[in-house]
Amino acid sequence: MTFENLKLELSGKIAKLFINRPKKLNALNRATIDELHQAFEILLKDEDVAVIILTGSGEKAFVAGADISEFADYDVKEGTDLAAKGQELVFDYIANFPKPVIAAVNGFALGGGLELAMSAHFRIASDNARLGLPETSLGVIPGYGGTQRLPQLVGKGRAMEMIMTGGMINAETAKDYGLVNHVTTIEELLPLAEKLAQKITNNSMVAISAAIEAINANYKDGVDGFNIEIQNFGKSFGTEDFQEGTQAFLNKRKANFKSYVSTTKTP
Ligand code: COA
Repeated sequence: MTFENLKLELSGKIAKLFINRPKKLNALNRATIDELHQAFEILLKDEDVAVIILTGSGEKAFVAGADISEFADYDVKEGTDLAAKGQELVFDYIANFPKPVIAAVNGFALGGGLELAMSAHFRIASDNARLGLPETSLGVIPGYGGTQRLPQLVGKGRAMEMIMTGGMINAETAKDYGLVNHVTTIEELLPLAEKLAQKITNNSMVAISAAIEAINANYKDGVDGFNIEIQNFGKSFGTEDFQEGTQAFLNKRKANFKSYVSTTKTP
């Protein structure tokens, strides 16, 4: 499928999804939000795809935020709907996606851009990356999950400072904060993302999907994460992958996991 604002590259079990509006620093307009949802729906159903790498086209920006030109004249209801729809279609959808999503932050990740990166399961960054939530400089607050995910990742005090000042941090500080796991040169960013994705594909995608659900449960109100872990741990014992993984270990051979994550389960 071709997109107006995205570029999708498939190679083996790895999908690379580029936000592709480089002239607008990949700012997220409504059409891009809709296409992102469509793309992830396709990737969910595609049994050949195990891991998704999310990045921005060009060398300047991952995503420089929600498209300010689109929401500048919104009223209260339109603003509320913008945040609600975006969270449902893209940000929560990606956070709960049953296949691993890695954000490769290749430049500015601001506002909705940092929120998009934070929806991914983990992040790596190039050394030119600049990350921040500048919404208060526009008279709004982060609306795509930033007030929730940033404190989860960096701690409340750092999140408060970043959101109040609206300032940007560089890649090394982001690593120091735990916001990104690795920093590399821009040239090495996608190769590193692919290396990590490749390593993930050696493991059971069914188990990884169950682990994503259990880890996310820790951050959901009214959900007992320890109980989700017990349930998903137990369910693992009924999977072909568990038989394969344990038999491979006991027979001193490499596991060959065949099954893919269930495509019927929506995030
Ligand atoms: N929404 C809409 N358009 C955006 C955008 C956004 N969030 N971020 C960048 N753009 C557009 C610019 O308007 C410009 O378009 P133009 O060439 O048609 O004028 C183009 O992308 C290039 O951006 P420019 O500002 O010229 O690049 P720069 O290198 O001088 O500055 C930034 C880069 C990221 C510092 C600057 O673009 C910026 O501050 N963007 C907004 C960041 C923001 O507040 N995001 C949160 C939104 S909630």
